[in-house]
Amino acid sequence: MIFGRVKPLDAILETAQKKSLHRSLGWFQLTLFGIGSVIGTGIFVLTSAGAQKAGPGLMLAFIIAGMVCIVAALCYAEIAAMIPVAGSAYTYSYATVGEFVAWTVGWALIMEYAIAAAAVSVGWSGYFTGTILNEFMGIDLPAWLRAGPLFLGGEAGGVINLPAMVIALLVTALLIVGTSESAKVNAVLVAIKVIALAAFVALTLPRVDTANFNPFLPAGVFGGFGTGVGAVGAAATIFFAYVGFDSVSTAAEETRDPQRNVPIGLIGSLLFCTVFYILVAAGAVGTIGGQPILGPTGVPFPAGSEELARQCAMPEHAAALVCSDEALAHVLRQIGFSWVGNMLGIAAFLALPSVILVLLFGQTRIFFVMSRDGLLPEVLSRVHPRWKTPYIVTAITGAAVAVGAAFFPVGKLADISNAGTLYAFTLVAIALLILRKRDPERKRHFRVPAATLVGLLTIGGCIFLFLNLPTEAMLFLPAWGALGLLVYFLYGRRHSHLGKGMVEVHEPEYADMEPDIPGVDDTGR
Ligand code: ALA
Repeated sequence: MIFGRVKPLDAILETAQKKSLHRSLGWFQLTLFGIGSVIGTGIFVLTSAGAQKAGPGLMLAFIIAGMVCIVAALCYAEIAAMIPVAGSAYTYSYATVGEFVAWTVGWALIMEYAIAAAAVSVGWSGYFTGTILNEFMGIDLPAWLRAGPLFLGGEAGGVINLPAMVIALLVTALLIVGTSESAKVNAVLVAIKVIALAAFVALTLPRVDTANFNPFLPAGVFGGFGTGVGAVGAAATIFFAYVGFDSVSTAAEETRDPQRNVPIGLIGSLLFCTVFYILVAAGAVGTIGGQPILGPTGVPFPAGSEELARQCAMPEHAAALVCSDEALAHVLRQIGFSWVGNMLGIAAFLALPSVILVLLFGQTRIFFVMSRDGLLPEVLSRVHPRWKTPYIVTAITGAAVAVGAAFFPVGKLADISNAGTLYAFTLVAIALLILRKRDPERKRHFRVPAATLVGLLTIGGCIFLFLNLPTEAMLFLPAWGALGLLVYFLYGRRHSHLGKGMVEVHEPEYADMEPDIPGVDDTGR
């Protein structure tokens, strides 16, 4: 039976117990880790794409996406505290709905993390070329080196986004030689990002002109399924700004008193970011205006489309928020704070690579756990004798990420990554509901209040956001899934340890590879 292989929860917990990783993290480190993984390209760059879809309604979009993430975080919190093991949504699904669905979740997560890393690389490239090269060094990188081709939504004359490709490869190289990011470095980077956003809010809010909020919803609340416009279309895109809080759950195995600290870390980092994002969106559209560029039918041109790129190349749109590659720095420059805008650009330049690091790390860890279960060839997760890192899978992932970053615009990459994330969140909510029914007596140190309602809201919210992504982003998920099914039936199903009756997790050569989670361990190599 295809749905028959369910991993017993007790076996998972026993294995976790046996591994008895050093549990050293507290709620504060977890919250810092969460904020470090969450704040990135979403707020620093996608604010433009969000405004192109929703206009000033971008603020509403941040609220909608934030609400879906908060109910999803509550589901994560209960399960992560109960099953504090690596692999997050993949592992929870394995213990509830079984290997087949778990495979699809793991497969979706592999895509989510890799494409998200590519999106953040492109976001970083905007600040690197705009602030560092252009503002500070006076170098105007030619279009063919700073953007992908026009037909993919890049720029006129664009060929390759070289900076994005290089940063993706550099971060990959760091991960291969085992560079982790110490908790101290993460704390500094979080402080840099938070100070930059706080300065943005403090300088823009007093200058808000309420006339800029009119019309508030130029493309309506709901632009139609698959169109990717309107406030919910924007919510489906800027959902990306919240992605990463789930990585807190990947650190559950190393957390002291996870039952208390994981929920605090997850929900705390998310609430903090939600409030900040809404204020930043208000400051951005309220000062320089954020009306979308409309097509002949009165509907906004799709973000990341060739038509929009052409419009943005026209002089009359040079100052538009929706055309900027470095949205927040651009706003500050436009309202006369060029110097602070440049400082904010430096903050993004310094801090975004750590988001890429966390995402790539998350991807390799999911890969690692799946091959530990026999579902992917162990050779891929082979550990380097000297660096003690899964260098093969890291190199393959890094190459794929670099290609994505080199040719595609940030908005398209973020939308595709969101599709995978929304699928994984849905499965976490399903796992919550199943566990409540099947195993009601098991001790839950954090119980979601009104679990059924929260679970159903998460499922409904994720499906709704998914349906509001642009059609091509939606279609990517089943296409990637079809490839996954092929791999599962040709390889995973036959080699699965559970399928061979090996319930206990065996860890041959990985035993000494417990890579430091970037940004949370103090032992950064
Ligand atoms: N939430 C992360 C970002 O916005 C992925 O960059």
